[in-house]
Amino acid sequence: MDILKKIEMYRQDEEKLKWEGTFREYLEIVKEQPWVAQSAHSRVYNMIKDAGIENEKGKKRYSFFNAQLFGLEEALERLVEEYFHPAAKRLDVRKRILLLMGPVSGGKSTLVTMLKRGLEAYSHTDRGAVFAIKGCPMHEDPLHMIPHHLRKDFYDEYGIRIEGNLSPLNMMRLEQEYGGRIEDVIVERIFFSEDKRTGIGTFSPSDPKSQDIADLTGSIDFSTIAEYGSESDPRAYRFDGELNKANRGMMEFQEMLKCDEKFLWHLLSLTQEGNFKAGRFALISADELIVAHTNETEYRSFISNKKNEALHSRIIVMPIPYNLKVSDEEKIYDKMIRESDVNDVHIAPHTLRVAAMFTILTRLKDPKKGDIDLIKKMRLYDGESVEGYNRADVEEMKKEHQDEGMSGIDPRYVINRISSTIIRKEVKTINALDVLRSLKEGLDQHPSITAETRERYLNYISIARKEYDDIAKKEVQKAFVYSYEESAKTLMENYLDNVEAYCNKAKMRDQLTGEEINPDEKLMRSIEEQIGISENAKKAFREEILIRISAYARKGKRFDYNSHDRLREAIQKKLFADLKDVVKITTSSKTPDETQLKKINNVVARLIDEHGYNSTSANELLRYVGSLLNR
Ligand SMILES: Nc1ncnc2c1ncn2[C@@H]1O[C@H](COP(=O)(O)OP(=O)(O)OP(=O)(O)O)[C@@H](O)[C@H]1O
Ligand SMILES: [Mg+2]
Repeated sequence: MDILKKIEMYRQDEEKLKWEGTFREYLEIVKEQPWVAQSAHSRVYNMIKDAGIENEKGKKRYSFFNAQLFGLEEALERLVEEYFHPAAKRLDVRKRILLLMGPVSGGKSTLVTMLKRGLEAYSHTDRGAVFAIKGCPMHEDPLHMIPHHLRKDFYDEYGIRIEGNLSPLNMMRLEQEYGGRIEDVIVERIFFSEDKRTGIGTFSPSDPKSQDIADLTGSIDFSTIAEYGSESDPRAYRFDGELNKANRGMMEFQEMLKCDEKFLWHLLSLTQEGNFKAGRFALISADELIVAHTNETEYRSFISNKKNEALHSRIIVMPIPYNLKVSDEEKIYDKMIRESDVNDVHIAPHTLRVAAMFTILTRLKDPKKGDIDLIKKMRLYDGESVEGYNRADVEEMKKEHQDEGMSGIDPRYVINRISSTIIRKEVKTINALDVLRSLKEGLDQHPSITAETRERYLNYISIARKEYDDIAKKEVQKAFVYSYEESAKTLMENYLDNVEAYCNKAKMRDQLTGEEINPDEKLMRSIEEQIGISENAKKAFREEILIRISAYARKGKRFDYNSHDRLREAIQKKLFADLKDVVKITTSSKTPDETQLKKINNVVARLIDEHGYNSTSANELLRYVGSLLNR
């Protein structure tokens, strides 16, 4: 379908959603779909809930955030459970300003933008529909027209609690335009839109000293005062501040703590108890989510100031730390690159992963207990299994440092380094070494790191580099074996047959001649030696494997190549050891002969077809691994 057709269809859909009617008619809608009368906080919560909740080992995962935010599941769960959910239930927290606190480029703005875009879309759905008094600059809730003394009756009939007072402007309009007949007042369905300033507002501080509170609450319209005669006539007031416009939806308060103290005071007393004061009017009820964000340094200096104590109690602080999982960090880079204009560059496999390893290491704190190192901790956090540690240990480890994830390298820095690599290299292919090199160079120019931190980070770069060396070697060796998985499986089965015969003191049968033969001790040892199993320990190792196999069999599970970490490692190493010389000679030969050339071409082809390389990156990889093996 062409784009013009789509535009037309979109317009028709929008047209269909529109609704306008009297308050009387609106009440019928309320009766049938009571959720249209929900509060702003409850709408936000339902939006998140409606997108789906997954249960992952007793923890809640909110799908709403999946598309854009990675690795923040725990922080988001906390945000929903401790703020959005109780706020939706009309508990007190909703009257506070939600302050997201976290390190730079940690996803705070992304989170807020998702909520905004989400609300815009949600207001177009049945479940998220919003109605307002037509012609009201603050899109006021029509139910506010129900007088206080009848609200109990309304509750009895509709089961809906009404909060908030009718605003001065609508009070006046009700009298003057409708002669006090509430049931005739025109109500319309509204659709949130930041661009149209409906239900979504953004405020960012300008010069702190001259910041005008009118930006938030609107101001007197001097051009009309003469007409209406008085400053306290609501028609002579423009309700066009961000707080006004964001009514029913949400307002983002950027860099809140950069505002002057006095201004903040003003703001917080304004927003206290879900009301705010504008001009010479009685309190105006505001039904909106106010989200602000700040970084830790600003936050610390804010709370260390005694004068701010009262303000503090009007804010709910939610930490948004950095992601701490390598695979999620990789997704973040991938997303950021796709969104950028370098998205046509070939990034060799493992490049982003290796960069992510470095980044995550800079964010982790040294484990306090046991002799576990940072690399293992990194693996455990990423959900990999590390021998000797289980899930409970991981949870324990997470509790050791309250501020883990609040510092370290930010994703934007890494993306900047990747971009500069791309620009400098001029070819449209980059690999992990290019990126590590660039990250290293960048550390000299990084504005905010001390010499000591720099040393530490350099060390992480070499750790990441070592990890990459292993990955690269394995990758090439795998590509040398015609079918790696197949070979590994065959070798393992062969080993297991021998182990079984050995433990049962049985003979084996030669496949060709059918003769009885002894278990192949040489083969078994050549595998076991790969992982350092001594002559004395071999019996115990073999028996342990047999026990494991029968335990699997009892549970009806198949014992396979992946069932035993150490055995798998041994098999892998054995395969590679057998290959090492071939790989070494082939990859490092300056003048390869015909068979070597053929082999190289095959390997390159396999790297391209099966492992996601292009010919440049595959050749770079081969050359690098050749140099590693010849060291
Ligand atoms: N956990 C994450 N998941 C997905 N993307 C992330 C994550 N953390 C950061 N990003 C990406 O990093 C970039 C910077 O994030 P964002 O602007 O949201 O951070 P911020 O916390 O608002 O930073 P600042 O303090 O500098 O304003 C964005 O492109 C964002 O998508
Ligand atoms: Mg931001």
